[in-house]
Amino acid sequence: MGALAWRWALRAARLPGRGGVAVTAPRRSPGCRPAASAAMSSGSSSSGTRDEALRDKRTQILSRGLPKQKPIEGVKQVLILASGKGGVGKSTAAVNIALALAANDSTKEVGLLDADIYGPSIPKMMNLKGNPELTPKNLMRPLKNYGIACMSMGFLIEETAPVVWRGLMVMSAVEKLLRQVDWGQLDYLVIDMPPGTGDVQLSVSQNIPIADAMVVETIRKTHLSNRKWIETGAVIISTPQDIALLDARKGAEMFRKVHVPVLGLVQNMSVFQCPKCKHETHIFGADGVRDLAKSLRLDILGDIPLHVNVRETCDSGQPVVISQPQSDAAKAYLRIAMEIVRRLPVPPA
Ligand SMILES: Nc1ncnc2c1ncn2[C@@H]1O[C@H](COP(=O)(O)OP(=O)(O)OP(=O)(O)O)[C@@H](O)[C@H]1O
Ligand SMILES: [Mg+2]
Repeated sequence: MGALAWRWALRAARLPGRGGVAVTAPRRSPGCRPAASAAMSSGSSSSGTRDEALRDKRTQILSRGLPKQKPIEGVKQVLILASGKGGVGKSTAAVNIALALAANDSTKEVGLLDADIYGPSIPKMMNLKGNPELTPKNLMRPLKNYGIACMSMGFLIEETAPVVWRGLMVMSAVEKLLRQVDWGQLDYLVIDMPPGTGDVQLSVSQNIPIADAMVVETIRKTHLSNRKWIETGAVIISTPQDIALLDARKGAEMFRKVHVPVLGLVQNMSVFQCPKCKHETHIFGADGVRDLAKSLRLDILGDIPLHVNVRETCDSGQPVVISQPQSDAAKAYLRIAMEIVRRLPVPPA
């Protein structure tokens, strides 16, 4: 069953199986130009009608491969954890925030999607291994731990196998991980994004349902009193160091461009307290993310301290919110989850 699920997930891209490495290049017949460039260069007329027709044709061609925005069956709200920069604590936060959402309200069902196709972290952080089973409807059943339903590319390939894909293959994989999964009934689906603002980010943004621009604007201005229903919000996480902030800004701007409301920013690793003398050090800077939030006119959702237990517990598959709920770090994640929920309008029953 497991092998079937895996083969099935890769089928669309016609890729080699377990342990395999796949590289593709766009196919082109000899002497044949890509349709878009042919359309662009055909004819010499500069008349307005023809230009318009060419533009339409080009738009049509370019939009052909794009996924359609539609709801994910059974999922009420989607929460994207992102940052332009790598290694700033997205996955750690995604895991702990997913657990915190469930811990804060035991009536809520929470799922976690690892959208990091190239470097999935969720299986290890959530202490999960194995292949998803297929349901009679041919959907993948998420693997579950600590009450959280998880899906990851890491369940479909060997731990050590590199994924060497690009473009449409990655986009197709993201769509499958989102939609070809039996999520059951989820109040929140937390998505752990890879670093950057590339194919995966675009693919996720284009796949998930997004509130119309008016609702987004209302949320930005009056998020606490707003009762309207949105399906998706993004949270940007960064360390306060300049080099990370540059990319975090790009991340936030990207979501604005694709009309995903940014609920706020999380500052990670801003303070380290020496366990012996209690002296506090700002290894990556103190307030960089707060300043960035101000300049983007966004809220700060909270600060997570730099602490060895956050790293150790994630590496051992027992995230700090579950294993040390009384610790400062766990309390920070729990508070951030609360702030997120306050900014997500109550969905209709
Ligand atoms: N608050 C924290 N205190 C201590 N260590 C942390 C903290 N947050 C994250 N880490 C550690 O920092 C490293 C990077 O974290 P993580 O993998 O969550 O980042 P990421 O942004 O998801 O990285 P990538 O871009 O590669 O996916 C990990 O070793 C993690 O355990
Ligand atoms: Mg990660």
